[in-house]
Amino acid sequence: MNGFDGSLPLSRARTIPASWYTSEEMAQRERDRVFGDVWLVAGRVDQVAKPGDYFTAHLAGEPIVVTRDESGSLRAFYNVCRHRAARVVCAEQGHATKLRCRYHGWTYDLTGRLRGVPEFDGVEGFCREDNGLKPIMVSEWGPFVWVHRGESPAPLREWLAPLERRGILSRIGGLEWAGRKEYRLACNWKVFVDNYLDGGYHVNTVHPALAGVLDYARYRTEIEENLSVQISPLEPGEVGDVRSGDEAHYAWVFPHVMFNVYAGVMDTNVVYPEGPNSCRVVFDFYFESRFDTAFRARSMAVAHEVQIEDEAVCLDVQVGLGSRSYDTGRFSVKREAGGYHFHRLLASRLLGN
Ligand code: FES
Ligand SMILES: [Fe+2]
Repeated sequence: MNGFDGSLPLSRARTIPASWYTSEEMAQRERDRVFGDVWLVAGRVDQVAKPGDYFTAHLAGEPIVVTRDESGSLRAFYNVCRHRAARVVCAEQGHATKLRCRYHGWTYDLTGRLRGVPEFDGVEGFCREDNGLKPIMVSEWGPFVWVHRGESPAPLREWLAPLERRGILSRIGGLEWAGRKEYRLACNWKVFVDNYLDGGYHVNTVHPALAGVLDYARYRTEIEENLSVQISPLEPGEVGDVRSGDEAHYAWVFPHVMFNVYAGVMDTNVVYPEGPNSCRVVFDFYFESRFDTAFRARSMAVAHEVQIEDEAVCLDVQVGLGSRSYDTGRFSVKREAGGYHFHRLLASRLLGN
């Protein structure tokens, strides 16, 4: 479990050990201490815009369902039937007046109360009121619905205060959602995050087209609490018209949420662990209304190209992390402060008692 020293300055620091990316034990620990005790993105607010809307999600091993109840309140529950633990709601998203378990037909209302229990007469000591869906803390910020599995977490706004102070919300306020794309990667979720947080170190080598529009010499990383933001001045170039504005902002919030913000354009990446050697990355695309369909399609195509380039190196890295030749690596002081910051935040949760 040891093998990481977060007290060192960046110039002397080493990464977390390779075993943290490959062991089932560490994945389990992360499920409890990281993903079980932090605000996580479950889905988008527009998926539950109206009373009766719902969506489901799978968050680090936990099935979740989010509903907008009849009074307009947002609710989140474990999507696990109290009878025999089947998934109550199977659709990705939809609209309903009640949630009916597909296994034996127990029904719950949108506030999670158990309403219908077929053929349960004569069962002793069974109380419907005690058998509602187990609730989870839920809140909204920006385009996202966030959930927290802990008992009494600090409010979401407090958690996201560093992001708010950077004015991200005002930059993305007028954007509308235009599409989603999901990727399954055969690597640990932290490999994807590490790759995201390397301060532009891999841009010239891995993303030649993107490198043309980013002003690499002035690319910088700023770190604050649970947040790091990579800021790159932009230049006209090959992908210039779909990645334009003065500056690109790449904001990451611990542990799994990334906002990529350009002028009038944003995509978000949210990465979900699925065991030690696999993760799922969800991209959502947002645009100002002035951008037409062709522009949006081009912009999403650029993001896909970049993702394919990233994916190839991430898969390589996962294989290398399993090699007996590698344990830890060093950080570029100039570029990789964001990566070390991530490892410190992670280790402080994983190594505590
Ligand atoms: S498991 Fe849901 S009704 Fe039986
Ligand atoms: Fe990349």
